[in-house]
Amino acid sequence: MRAWRIENDNGIEALKLNDVDIHEPGPGEVRFRVMASSINRRDFNTVRAPMARNTPLPRIPNSDAAGEVVSVGEGVRNFQPGDRVASCFFMRWQAGRMEAPIMFSALGGAEEGMLSEEAVLPETALVHIPNHLSWEEAGTLTCAGVTAWNALVEQGGLTAGDTVLVMGTGGVSIFALQFSKMMGAKVIVISKSDTKLERVRSMGADETVNYATTPDWEKAVLDLTDGRGVDQVVEVGGAGTLQKSIEAVGFGGHIGLIGVLTEGDVNPLPLLSKSIRLTGIYVGSREMFKKMNAAISANLLRPVVDQTYEFGDARAAFKSMGEDKHFGKIVITLHN
Ligand SMILES: NC(=O)c1ccc[n+]([C@@H]2O[C@H](COP(=O)([O-])OP(=O)(O)OC[C@H]3O[C@@H](n4cnc5c(N)ncnc54)[C@H](OP(=O)(O)O)[C@@H]3O)[C@@H](O)[C@H]2O)c1
Repeated sequence: MRAWRIENDNGIEALKLNDVDIHEPGPGEVRFRVMASSINRRDFNTVRAPMARNTPLPRIPNSDAAGEVVSVGEGVRNFQPGDRVASCFFMRWQAGRMEAPIMFSALGGAEEGMLSEEAVLPETALVHIPNHLSWEEAGTLTCAGVTAWNALVEQGGLTAGDTVLVMGTGGVSIFALQFSKMMGAKVIVISKSDTKLERVRSMGADETVNYATTPDWEKAVLDLTDGRGVDQVVEVGGAGTLQKSIEAVGFGGHIGLIGVLTEGDVNPLPLLSKSIRLTGIYVGSREMFKKMNAAISANLLRPVVDQTYEFGDARAAFKSMGEDKHFGKIVITLHN
């Protein structure tokens, strides 16, 4: 079978399409045909500078895959040929808290990734996907979907009537908007693009602020909440935006710290005085993935696929993420 592999530290051009051996599934393993694999910012960063992330080379990138089971190994109980499945970001995080060994089981990082025609994973690293989703839609869930779900629902305790601040309009952020609306929350979205802000309004965002033309966006958010601040922030900016998020969140509110897109300094004092909960988020467990899928099925929620690329055009998909014009997800499709 063919797989894209990062061969060296020379960026997207070092991504090469190779013939790669695949083994028959052993005990407890499942072999599946990959139908779609979306790109996350983390995959883009891994392809762009693998050495900086201590990525063993050569390495197949991408954590996300949706696919169809081809065959199963001895003792596999939960999957059979023909089942529609998705990969879990961490091969070894079933449930409960994050622990050190789990960190070293990330697909497309410490472990081989999913940008290949077929893959073999332990059955404990797979979930069934919602029936109503296309392959491309299902291929977006593994990282961005579970991360937004973990931040808002598992750690944040999102509930109807909450006000959520969603930062940006990329993969994680658009899932955060969708989950927040699904749960009956009010949503404020900030973006650098008025066109993207129009698009989030058409998806139900209640308020929008352009952070490029309104650099003091935290003050705008306070105004929009009558000075009270939001209940939750989906923080993808990192150090450069965290201080503003701390200003924009209300007393007892929650910040899910997800991304590290910007640099800056942070004064932690208001975290104490406002009793803010700040939680580091690292995607999520298989159990969280299953709960998220149940909610997606019950609400017939459809992930936003902005762009699709053929398998042979994978490099173009990564380049597009570098241009930062996307809205929601960029997906590589393998089933045409
Ligand atoms: N911790 C985890 O488990 C985890 C999981 C997934 C992702 N992440 C991280 O979360 C971040 C987002 O990932 P992604 O895959 O969703 O990336 P993405 O699809 O590329 O989206 C990034 C978005 O961030 C917004 N953004 C950039 N700079 C900003 C700023 N200064 N203020 C506000 N928004 C800003 C942009 O939105 P606009 O164009 O609308 O301005 C951009 O579209 C990355 O840092 C990624 O590494 C972490």
